[in-house]
Amino acid sequence: MSSYFLNRIHKYENNYNSNSANWLLKKSEKFVNKLFSYVRIQNFFIPRLNLSKEINKICPLNFDIFMSENSSSPFDIEIKKTLLRIEFRYKFESQILLKKLVIQAARIKSTPFDLEKYKYISPLYPIIHFPNDYSEEGGLHNDYMSVDLYGTRVIWLPLTDYEYPGIITKGNYFNFVAQYLGLKIAHKIFRKSKNINLRNKHKAGEWIIWNDTFFHKGIINTTKKVACASVVRFSRRLTKETFLEIGDLLRSNPIDPYLSETNDFLVDKAKALFEKIIKNISLEYKGDDNSNDIYGYVKSNLNNFSKKEIAFILHIVEYSLSLILLRVTTKSKINWFLEDKFNSKVLIKLIFQNKKLIEKIKLELI
Ligand SMILES: [Fe+2]
Repeated sequence: MSSYFLNRIHKYENNYNSNSANWLLKKSEKFVNKLFSYVRIQNFFIPRLNLSKEINKICPLNFDIFMSENSSSPFDIEIKKTLLRIEFRYKFESQILLKKLVIQAARIKSTPFDLEKYKYISPLYPIIHFPNDYSEEGGLHNDYMSVDLYGTRVIWLPLTDYEYPGIITKGNYFNFVAQYLGLKIAHKIFRKSKNINLRNKHKAGEWIIWNDTFFHKGIINTTKKVACASVVRFSRRLTKETFLEIGDLLRSNPIDPYLSETNDFLVDKAKALFEKIIKNISLEYKGDDNSNDIYGYVKSNLNNFSKKEIAFILHIVEYSLSLILLRVTTKSKINWFLEDKFNSKVLIKLIFQNKKLIEKIKLELI
């Protein structure tokens, strides 16, 4: 018997094929989906229910590792953040939390968003905000992605207390113009538009939901405490992001020490492999000859695992690498190793190559 995450991710890694439709069909589908998004009025909702009790019970929020070392490079900090995000996302406790969230948000009709009609959900996507951490800063945006005519819904779930507003939006006029004429024009017309806080402060577990046309922005943490939240997306169709089936999740086992232990053992294995790969990338980046053959290393480390377990481990390693890749690509101005001549292109290339390598091993082994 395996945990729900293990079963589901194995199934997903074996079956998901995003290139099934031809490009013309995809293009016209995208166009129709976008057209239908114009009739979805931007909306967010603060429910009466919350998961405060559950979060205080199960989330091991340990940020001490970050506070102890002031001399680490931004790259080291990013790696530690990724490791923590992996824990929040794939550990057994996260599965329990996700199930409770689904019960609260979708089973009981606690929001005006028709969530009971949604069949798929993403795993937690945690975001960690250090005090004055500009690497997390994003612009005003909505969470639209082309899935179907109904669009997707997003829950924002704070995992720590927030002593600052965390998320802001703009006024109705601004948002209206942004949706129909674009953000650029909205910014031009409303030059001095004010930020509106969804809440001035948040308690851990007090989730908020919005639809995929709603404009919002995560703001800089100006307090001295680390803040952490998780995003979860609901969709009616299976997508690369929302690959957990809600029905199965609701039927999954409650707390089981054996399932929990094996699940978390595999997560730790994936974390160790990811750390090894990252160390090697750093060595290669610095031109060190001591770099290892990652292909051989990863393969020999997976000798004693079943196909299902390998699918789970490599899924996590690949996901971790894609998080780092995304960060280094979008924040190319950050001097990740604090050196005189930082070369972001070389670093991006190395991470990309290693990610491809993991994909290759996955195809060979599962
Ligand atoms: Fe967002």
